[in-house]
Amino acid sequence: MHHMIVGVVGAGAMGRGIAQVSAAAGHDVVLFDSNADAVTSGLDAISASLGRAAERGRITADAAAATVARISGVDAIERLAGAELVIEAIVERLDVKRSVFAQLEAVVGPDTILASNTSSLSIASIASAVQRRTRLIGLHFFNPVPAMALVEVVGTPYSADAVLERAKAWVAGIGKTAVVVRDSPGFLVNLAGRAYATEALAILQDGIASVEQIDRIATANLGFPLGPFELMDLTGLDINYTVTANLYEHNFGDPRLRSTWYHRYLFDAGLLGRKTGRGFHDYAGPDATAEQ
Ligand code: NAI
Repeated sequence: MHHMIVGVVGAGAMGRGIAQVSAAAGHDVVLFDSNADAVTSGLDAISASLGRAAERGRITADAAAATVARISGVDAIERLAGAELVIEAIVERLDVKRSVFAQLEAVVGPDTILASNTSSLSIASIASAVQRRTRLIGLHFFNPVPAMALVEVVGTPYSADAVLERAKAWVAGIGKTAVVVRDSPGFLVNLAGRAYATEALAILQDGIASVEQIDRIATANLGFPLGPFELMDLTGLDINYTVTANLYEHNFGDPRLRSTWYHRYLFDAGLLGRKTGRGFHDYAGPDATAEQ
């Protein structure tokens, strides 16, 4: 696949990862965020991540520098005008995503593919906000983007097969595995994997085991790389809680997808996990795991 200009909207945890893997594959990347500080910290995080990869001998220092040089941080959405593919990774809110795609459509060319990285919103519902609905699809990456092989590619009743084919080829070109999944709440991975969180939350609510015990059993005995609470803290409860609530609502209260009051309590309290220093676990101080 030829090298393209790839636009990324949102320079948070996911957007910076998507920018990094796109640039590492040789694409020129334009990274935009409505918060200028997020662009700066995103670029810093990308440099640091590539620097670590170079130190470990996974890539050369020249390759790391060339990848960083292919990413431009910008502070206006108009700067995405030349992009052939734009991937959105902003806040998980339908109204905000709809409005960003409507703005994007006014900026990019008619054949630019527009993709959302949403975890739980309907791609068709996002597409309904744009004029050329054939070109809007889902490209759902996983966190942390450089380490995770899979990308869910999501079409809608509006999308063109040719767009999905181009998107699949692009995903393969950045060295990821594309899996075409149906536009449905949580797609495949977040639906199938939801029980890892909801069962752990139910066990905690029932008083059967503590956060620490459940995480330790999941890692030490069951072989998961992260326990369910560590994973939710890594993802961020703003994302994780919202995704869980969306799946529950969009499946009309299917009890398999039910969360607990404590999950929402942490979310409402702004205790979002690693990004705020505290969620299910406390990351703030030396006593963070004192309860163990
Ligand atoms: P984040 O909170 O780390 O980053 C979101 C960024 O979007 C922020 O920098 C914010 O300033 C920016 N933003 C918000 N509104 C904007 C707007 N109107 N225009 C431009 N920029 C705007 O969030 P994160 O975790 O990167 O998630 C982003 C998206 O990716 C969400 O849709 C989420 O569901 C999805 N996702 C998240 C995963 C995760 O594990 N965190 C995994 C897969 C998908």
